[in-house]
Parts: sequence; C-alpha cells; structure tokens
Amino acid sequence: WLATEFDGGRHVRRTQKICAYERSTNRAFMNDAGQVVVFDHPLVQHKLSIIRDKNTPVKTFRETVAEIASLMVYEITRDLPLKMIDVETPITRTKAYALAGKKLAIVPILRAGLGMMEGVLNLIPNAKVGHIGLYRNPETLQPVEYYCKLPGDIEERDIFLLDPMLATGGSSAEAISLIKKRGGKKISLVCLIAAPEGVSVVHEQHPDVNIFVASLDSHLNEHGYIVPGLGDAGDRIFGTR
Ligand code: URA
Repeated sequence: WLATEFDGGRHVRRTQKICAYERSTNRAFMNDAGQVVVFDHPLVQHKLSIIRDKNTPVKTFRETVAEIASLMVYEITRDLPLKMIDVETPITRTKAYALAGKKLAIVPILRAGLGMMEGVLNLIPNAKVGHIGLYRNPETLQPVEYYCKLPGDIEERDIFLLDPMLATGGSSAEAISLIKKRGGKKISLVCLIAAPEGVSVVHEQHPDVNIFVASLDSHLNEHGYIVPGLGDAGDRIFGTR
C-alpha cells in the first residue's frame, strides 16, 4: 500500500496495486490477494459520518450501525439465485421470482460484530447465526478463541463474517481460520471500516475471502485504532467505558 491522503474513504485511493473496478457504484479493487469492495452509496456514506462523530449518542450509534449493515448486505446479496414460482395476485395467476433457498449464515465476531447482526437479520431473517469470541493474549498479542459455535451445516452455507473494524486483521483472520477448520468454504468479511494493514493481513492469510467495507480509512495509530475511524466500536455500540 502507498500512503496517500485520506479522501473520506469513499473512493479507492490511488495505489499501485489497484487493478480492477467493478459495478458502477461500488468501488472494487484487488490488492495482491483478493477483492475489496468499498460501498460508496450516498446513504452508506452519510450514515458512516454519523457514527464517526464522537458526539453521536449510543442509541443513534447502535441504530445507524445496524442500518449500514443492512444496506451493505442488500448489495452483497445482489447475486443470490432466484427461482420462478406461481403466485395468485388479486387480479390473476402469474409467475414471479422467489429466492431459490441458498443457505446463508451470519457470524458476528464478539462483541462488536453483534451490532451489525440485527441489521443483517432484518434483511435475511432465515439465515442461521454462529458466534465467534476471541480475546487478545496480552503477552503474545495473538487472538485466542474463547467461544465458537457455528451452524452444524456450515460447510453448505455462504457465510457473512461480521467485524465492524478491520484494524490489524488478527481477529478477522483467526475467525476465518476457525470457520474454515469447521468446514466453512465461502466466506465474505463484512466490515464498516477497514485499515489497509488489516486488509493486507486478511488477504495474505485468506486470499479467497472477499472483503466488503463502507470505508477504507487511512492507517492504524500506535494504539491499534483506525485513523480517522470511529473509536472503539464495541464501547460505542454498548455504551461501555
Ligand atoms: N477496534 C475498534 O473498535 N476500533 C478501532 O479503531 C480498531 C479496532
């Protein structure tokens, strides 16, 4: 990654590694490994500014996180397969589309990922939900699993892994490894904000995983926070600290 001036995270910043744009609205590009999609829809960007603001109260923050997650998943599920069904309208019988029943799973990384879960479930209420809990070993600074419960048929499901802040990438990469160990294959990582450092770590370890973000921010500071970011997502969602 080249350090470039932060432009609000909406547009893909010019780096040597950009090699593809996709779709007309979302900016997609490849780093060395996999694909990153930045959702630059005006509603997403507007709502993102609300949660960046340090004066936004907890209730608004929580609701807005869920709304952004909904808008992102609305786009990510654009390619879900459809089938034709018979429907009787008040006027006549007709053929119409219905989801073809693709199996989906949502996996929030505890605890901040829970803030995105409600918004995703609003759109895909039949998805199964797994949970992954990780803490950071204070000596090694490596993520350690303390909880992992996934749907029994995880290998058959398209999986949306929810982690609002992709910072160092350690937790997300470890969570992806845990899912793969239990048979999960098709994993999309859905984040509100990512730092380039986190994107690189995840894609080095898991080049098959696509990453979806509302913003690609500038960098990590010396405390591991994303700059400009929004602070600690878990604390702001749950009103702790
Ligand atoms: N986790 C957060 O909640 N915020 C950051 O900026 C980085 C990691």
